[in-house]
Amino acid sequence: MLWFPVDRTSTTSLTVQVYEQLRKRILQKELREGERLLSSRELASSIGVSRNIIMEVYDRLLAEGYLEVRPQSGTYIAAGSHFPTAAVDDGCEETLPPAAGSKQLAEGKIDFRAAHPAADYFPRAIWGRLAKEVCTHTPERAFGYASPEGTPELREMLARYLQLARGVRCHPDQIVITSGATQALHLITDLLSKDKQARIAVEDPVTDEMRTIFTYAGASLIPVPVDDKGIRPEELPEHERPDFIFVIPSHQFPLGGTLPIQRRIQLIEYARRMDCFIVEDDYDSEFTYEGAPVHSLQGLDPERVIYVGTFSKILSPALRIGYAVLPIQYVEAYRRLKWFADRHTSTLEQLVLARFMDEGCFDRHIRRMRKIYRKRRETLVSALRRHLPGARILGESAGMHLVVEIPGVRFTPARIRQIREQNVLVYAVEDYAIVKGRHESRIVMGYGALPPEAIQEGVACLAKALW
Ligand SMILES: Cc1ncc(COP(=O)(O)O)c(C=O)c1O
Repeated sequence: MLWFPVDRTSTTSLTVQVYEQLRKRILQKELREGERLLSSRELASSIGVSRNIIMEVYDRLLAEGYLEVRPQSGTYIAAGSHFPTAAVDDGCEETLPPAAGSKQLAEGKIDFRAAHPAADYFPRAIWGRLAKEVCTHTPERAFGYASPEGTPELREMLARYLQLARGVRCHPDQIVITSGATQALHLITDLLSKDKQARIAVEDPVTDEMRTIFTYAGASLIPVPVDDKGIRPEELPEHERPDFIFVIPSHQFPLGGTLPIQRRIQLIEYARRMDCFIVEDDYDSEFTYEGAPVHSLQGLDPERVIYVGTFSKILSPALRIGYAVLPIQYVEAYRRLKWFADRHTSTLEQLVLARFMDEGCFDRHIRRMRKIYRKRRETLVSALRRHLPGARILGESAGMHLVVEIPGVRFTPARIRQIREQNVLVYAVEDYAIVKGRHESRIVMGYGALPPEAIQEGVACLAKALW
């Protein structure tokens, strides 16, 4: 399914934005000569604009020779329309997520952006001590180039941790250390697309970062609806085989559901039937505040599920350390992709992290952060109950964000801007949705990076903006 974002707040009309996006993709060969385009109805529903806009854009591209109509068959990319240029200005906003330090993270505003950990609790002193020890005592060869899969020290610590804490069934040789989950997912897309455009079934709504990673790697997305328990496997495509299904079963982002075992089994049965992979992103499952964390999907079928994790939430995104756990026969090809991408992730940081785990600091840090995030969550929930008594809170008691539904309120871009004028930043679930119109009264509120006083003040400002 072709998808790209449009910006409703932009002064550029939606028709021009869609035109520029399609033209750019044709010129840059992302849409190939002879390829059949989605029908106007399908594309309109995929990007959430009216069908008239798509028809107008198709007419213009047809008139300019980019497209051709084949009677009783459909609309195709015309021959000779590919023209690689250094830069094709599309007149649209950048599709990558905003950079840290951008206006959206402006100082002086209370920012409920999700998935940002508490930087003020990074264990600086211990990390500093271990970094000094590693730097002083590590043999010289660690300062040269290393193998793409990462250091044996970290992979061994990680395999043990994942088996015990997450029920992941793996040998250290199945682990490849990456520069965050971001790179792990990009390389998985390359691995599984086998020189063609990958088709990925994704949860809808889904995190914008992950969606961008897949589309940037040239994949097309098949949206699969999510409810309060996670992905609905009965909605997976029956007539189109995805290369893989991307899921966040422990704590879906953004809706926050935990996938029940029945759906996990259904998902695996589907993957076996369609002979495709499941890619499990387990980015924040350490932080569960009621009951024990549910074990990984990978543990149910290690041959079908590729498991992806990160240290960005537990420790800090600044480390840029994540990993993929692969069926052993895919490790060699994945190692090669990693080597071509950046040779390997920083050896010194990996060695410090391995020591951090080996000395028991990692488990202690998780226990400490769980208490801090639980407190922040409780503060947010009680502030919402006090200031917005009609609000419904969605999502399991886990992670660093929750979803708030306020019946009767539509979180349109104008509404979100109006809230920002009260110095508080919240994020519409609709921004994460591929198929629009199902989550208009919902916002995502991250609390990981906000101290309790800021959370209370932020909710008071939100209530003021709404009533
Ligand atoms: C769902 C999800 N998975 C993983 C990540 C972590 O990415 P990385 O490890 O590259 O920092 C994020 C970051 O926001 C995320 O939202």
